[in-house]
Amino acid sequence: MLILVKSLLDRSVDYLIIQDTPKIAEYTINPICTHLGCTVKSDLDNNHFICDCHESQYDSPAQGVHAPAKRYLPLITGVVKQNQIRLVDRDPAVDPR
Ligand code: FES
Repeated sequence: MLILVKSLLDRSVDYLIIQDTPKIAEYTINPICTHLGCTVKSDLDNNHFICDCHESQYDSPAQGVHAPAKRYLPLITGVVKQNQIRLVDRDPAVDPR
């Protein structure tokens, strides 16, 4: 399951928290298209992301990318601490790809 959140550092970008019920996963998706940097739209019900700029599509992290993008969306670390979700700009310890 994905949830949209707003970063306190860069309010222009929504990050997506991936939940492994009942815990929150230790990684989040940065929705910046790896083709040329547009922000992708998310289809939260289907864990699918679409870039309107040149129609790249991203399935769940382990399932792949459809051209023209060649790499999956960047992942960053998500930490739950004192009932807050903190996004840390470093590679996550767990990478599902
Ligand atoms: S910038 Fe996303 S497909 Fe080109």
